[in-house]
Amino acid sequence: MIMTRIHFLVATATLAFVFSLAYASDPSPLQDFCVAIDEPKAAVFVNGKFCKDPKLASANDFFFSGLNIPGNTSNPVGSFVTPVNVAQLAGLNTLGISLARIDFAPYGLNPPHTHPRATEILVVLEGTLYVGFVTSNPDNKLFTKVLYPGDVFVFPEGLIHFQFNGKKSNAVAFAGLSSQNPGVITIANAVFGSKPPISADVLTKAFQVDKKVIDHLQAQFWWDNN
Ligand SMILES: *[C@@H]1O[C@H](CO)[C@@H](O)[C@H](O)[C@H]1NC(C)=O
Repeated sequence: MIMTRIHFLVATATLAFVFSLAYASDPSPLQDFCVAIDEPKAAVFVNGKFCKDPKLASANDFFFSGLNIPGNTSNPVGSFVTPVNVAQLAGLNTLGISLARIDFAPYGLNPPHTHPRATEILVVLEGTLYVGFVTSNPDNKLFTKVLYPGDVFVFPEGLIHFQFNGKKSNAVAFAGLSSQNPGVITIANAVFGSKPPISADVLTKAFQVDKKVIDHLQAQFWWDNN
């Protein structure tokens, strides 16, 4: 009886230890893809960037300056995103966070896009923004809100979202993102501006329109505002 209890306790403790080492899911890939190779000399990076020797790190590795400067919104969508992710601030590597400034001209739009690796939390500093996101299939439910200075809105990871300045004055927002490399997929640019173009057979069926409409859309210049 006592031996059985001891065995039970040992088994339970062992299981608890094993489960404490297990992860609920894989870590974020932190890049669009990472094709496996056998030859280490051909390796580029895995899950982020290579790390600097900590003895050689300095305060400037954790510093970025310039988010006080408005982005140039003279472009077809009338908005500009200034990112501060691991590409601009090397100290963010492995830390799972980044930042962006978004400027809007009057009636400027940050067009429908997704961040494949990050949730976004946005705060409006100046102006008014009509913002929204759409949930996954099958509901595709749209959530929208009009934001004023000081208002905060969250766009859940991976969901298609947008921000529109419906007023005749500028707007400015800042956004925190839950990845050092959130990634951006601007829907129209990816679908109609891919290089090489997606076959019209695919897009006419997907969008249920004439080839003329697809040709027209594929002929546009799809401005990238980030
Ligand atoms: C803003 O961008 C436009 C279009 O690319 C360009 O003509 C203009 O010189 C830029 N303005 C500034 C201040 O950089």
